[in-house]
Amino acid sequence: MSLIEVNHLSKEFQVTKRQEGIRGALRSLFHREYTTKLAVQDISFALNTGEIVGYVGPNGAGKSTTIKMLTGILVPTSGDIRVNGITPYKERQKNARQIGVVFGQRSQLWWDLPTIESFELLRQVFQIPNDRYRQNMARFCDILGLEEFLQTPVRQLSLGQRMRADIAASLLHDPVILFLDEPTIGLDVVAKERMRSFIQEINQERGVTVILTTHDMSDIEKLCKRMILIDRGQVMYDGELAKIKEKFGKERVLIIDLEEAIAGFSVNGAEVIKQEGNRQWLKFNRDVMSTSQLISQISEKYEIKDLSIQDPEIEVMIRNIYENGLD
Ligand SMILES: Nc1ncnc2c1ncn2[C@@H]1O[C@H](COP(=O)(O)OP(=O)(O)OP(=O)(O)O)[C@@H](O)[C@H]1O
Ligand SMILES: [Mg+2]
Repeated sequence: MSLIEVNHLSKEFQVTKRQEGIRGALRSLFHREYTTKLAVQDISFALNTGEIVGYVGPNGAGKSTTIKMLTGILVPTSGDIRVNGITPYKERQKNARQIGVVFGQRSQLWWDLPTIESFELLRQVFQIPNDRYRQNMARFCDILGLEEFLQTPVRQLSLGQRMRADIAASLLHDPVILFLDEPTIGLDVVAKERMRSFIQEINQERGVTVILTTHDMSDIEKLCKRMILIDRGQVMYDGELAKIKEKFGKERVLIIDLEEAIAGFSVNGAEVIKQEGNRQWLKFNRDVMSTSQLISQISEKYEIKDLSIQDPEIEVMIRNIYENGLD
């Protein structure tokens, strides 16, 4: 038996039908019409202990809805979920003891209390033994640098501080599973990196199983071997990240700043897709030419001032899968 098992899971929402114009709006006041929104349709997957899985897909794909069902916040319309043997919505309390949850969009902490008070409250809620609580606090303070704002009310924390507090809070009671719904959203590059390292350490040090949703492919690349890609409530791909990148992520864009603007700039093996002043955008296929080959080819002819590489975006990969299928 796997640690997490999801079988033919679906979730429908009843949504009020919007009617056009003022007359429509007035009519809706007295006579509501509902339609059904299928947020999750027949999703199945299983996770083993110690995995970090990226749960990825475009806006509205059904990621958060899945996480909410796994945590017991939402009741599935049909299908089964087992989280370490527990059906989340049936035994929400019991499930809460074995999982940690972070919703990047909304803090789970007490907004008006000093941060430390939230931790203390969680200690009581989960009846965490004092010793263990102290150990965990020391460890999390150490890696996440929490001391500087422990006395600050949560509402006054910066986004990065708030996110660090939230993830520490989610792990105080030593859950075996961690659900992270966009834990790096809105963070700057340094804060993102810090969050990623922390997730990685917790996974390696404690064997915590992690499901992570994100729109940032660098999160996935740093943390996950496996990716589940969903779109419109359905699983499009479930497997190794490396395989899908191999197949769909071949196209890259090299952005270079030249010393001077050059008319008729061209390079073999790459296509100029955009130009702005001294800046050139070059699309190339990494099967045909490596990045370093391309760069050395350009620098033979031109003076390069600065450069960066755009990896294929998840949205582009998904569109690719849509258009060309998986085979
Ligand atoms: N409580 C709700 N009532 C009605 N519809 C909902 C509700 N929650 C989600 N939906 C709809 O279900 C679909 C899936 O939403 P969900 O929040 O799971 O997407 P997501 O993959 O997390 O997207 P995002 O990347 O934007 O966070 C969307 O079309 C959304 O509008
Ligand atoms: Mg979401």
